[in-house]
Amino acid sequence: MKQLDDWTRYAAKFLASGQRPHFAPAREILDIHQQQIDHAKGDKCAQLKTLILGATPELADLALANNCRVLRVDCNPVMFEAAKSRQKIADRSNETIVIGEWLNLHMIGDGEIDLVLGDASLNNIPHALMPQFLNEIARITRPGSLISIKQILFPDEKVASYEFHNAVNAYRTGKISDNEFYRILRFYSFIAEGYDPITHVLDAEKVFAAIQKRHAMNQLTDAEFEFLYSRHNTIQHTIYTQTAQRQLLERLGDCRIVQQGNELFKVCVIRR
Ligand SMILES: C[S@@+](CC[C@H](N)C(=O)[O-])C[C@H]1O[C@@H](n2cnc3c(N)ncnc32)[C@H](O)[C@@H]1O
Repeated sequence: MKQLDDWTRYAAKFLASGQRPHFAPAREILDIHQQQIDHAKGDKCAQLKTLILGATPELADLALANNCRVLRVDCNPVMFEAAKSRQKIADRSNETIVIGEWLNLHMIGDGEIDLVLGDASLNNIPHALMPQFLNEIARITRPGSLISIKQILFPDEKVASYEFHNAVNAYRTGKISDNEFYRILRFYSFIAEGYDPITHVLDAEKVFAAIQKRHAMNQLTDAEFEFLYSRHNTIQHTIYTQTAQRQLLERLGDCRIVQQGNELFKVCVIRR
């Protein structure tokens, strides 16, 4: 879902506050991408032609720091504006910014790309358009290219500690951080209320409505509710279970999912 208005509103909020968005890739995710880049480079010093699916400045900086030639594609110019203050690398001569559509990467020739990086990018592609998107990625990469993408995934089995009451208890007893609490409630505890298994969409509006309801029922304190609601948004994410995600990505080549355990954010590494 391109959701131009939703991402524009979201970006404007972070632009105004000057805060780093909570959806920016975390250090441990960037470290996993770095390991993949090291692997892809091997002992060659060739410049990897890299496609970044999104404005995500941390990924662009990572690629530039690795001497890659970077093409950064996002359909929303406001996301590039909002990304500027998060960019750390001053020399951007190896970078090209494109306001464009991932489903039609006509600016890239067949087999031109060595490396694809993304942060929850595929979670923004509607399920019905996923085959078209994967075909486009297959077209622009070559056999041997590497695709390293963070994805929001559901665990294959139910996770008791992610059920609403257990997550709240874990948070109140200091066993999980603010970010973990948000992530669990936002992407797991309200699957029944917010997820459509046909379209594979987890609808943020429905999740936040469920959070509001729990607050009204006194199952969340004012402080917990205010913290969760400070991240309110209307994004619709396409989310698969880990196994379904791997099966989908295996259309492109060998797929390995990095990070053990029930983490909801994992890196999928595909070798074409
Ligand atoms: C990559 S994701 C997640 C944000 C990311 N975690 C970050 O830190 O920037 C969101 C971005 O995808 C872009 N997007 C969604 N669908 C798209 C499409 N079909 N083509 C190009 N950009 C798209 C949106 O404009 C939005 O900027």
